[in-house]
Amino acid sequence: MPDMDNFKEASAFGVGTPQKTVGFPLKGCGNLDWGMKNRLARIFNPKDGRSLMLACDHGFIMGPTGGVERIDLSIVPLLKYADCLMCTRGILRSVIPPTADIPVCLRSDAGTSILTNLNDNVVIAAEEAVRVNAAAMAVMVAIGDELTEAKTVANLYHTVDIGQKYGIPVMGVTAVGKQMTRDAKYFRLATRMCAENGANIVKTYYTEGFETVTSSCPVPIVIAGGKKVPERDALELAYRAINDGAAGVDMGRNVFQSEHPAAMIRSVGAVIHKGLKPAEAYEMYQDLAK
Ligand code: 5RP
Repeated sequence: MPDMDNFKEASAFGVGTPQKTVGFPLKGCGNLDWGMKNRLARIFNPKDGRSLMLACDHGFIMGPTGGVERIDLSIVPLLKYADCLMCTRGILRSVIPPTADIPVCLRSDAGTSILTNLNDNVVIAAEEAVRVNAAAMAVMVAIGDELTEAKTVANLYHTVDIGQKYGIPVMGVTAVGKQMTRDAKYFRLATRMCAENGANIVKTYYTEGFETVTSSCPVPIVIAGGKKVPERDALELAYRAINDGAAGVDMGRNVFQSEHPAAMIRSVGAVIHKGLKPAEAYEMYQDLAK
């Protein structure tokens, strides 16, 4: 029992000062529970509702591809510039320092390698996501892929059940089968399906007409960078995505395969959080790369 002697009389009632109801800046996330919002607010800067996510989960399907051979050497030094790290539990436990002050979007499904057909068919156990303190869980959804569409939608659905139970947001990642046309019509379908099935964030690809993709998706969209292109083009991609309504990027190869990854991630960050135009961001990249 607390000591009741000399107990301070209550008087700081703030009468006349109405309690503020603080809004939540992320699209479609206003009705989520506190834990969900708290995790989302670690990923998306509450000041602008945007995020620079650094993806390095490529090895779960590709092995030690260029730039992620040694994540301790290539990715860990970049963590201080990112808002969130997307990686697998294997890399998290073996390489990422638990003292790193960064929320983790955990790759939470698995199934195949690049040698076979796209077919993720296991998802993480709820306890595992909680154990590694995931700020979000990412699962792939293969809309339009006859073999795996139903399974991957079910994976998303199941992961959302886990997320809702433990307050962990889920990111639906739209995988595009080789036979799919990467146009706005396809991405509207894929992103909307992710959101309708409960994803709190959707990761997809930029395309012409992207503003119709973001406007018809009721939750925040982040874009993947895709295969390595010249730095100027990757900065332009980030700018266009933000301009067309994306809440950020979840970029991998265009950062860690850059000749100057630290300069690149800082320049992408300036596009996202400071509104730099592509030419300004490229100038920044060149200055930092000197
Ligand atoms: C694929 C992923 C990857 O993490 C993502 O696509 C990688 O980013 P980038 O394309 O920028 O290298 O989620 O399912």
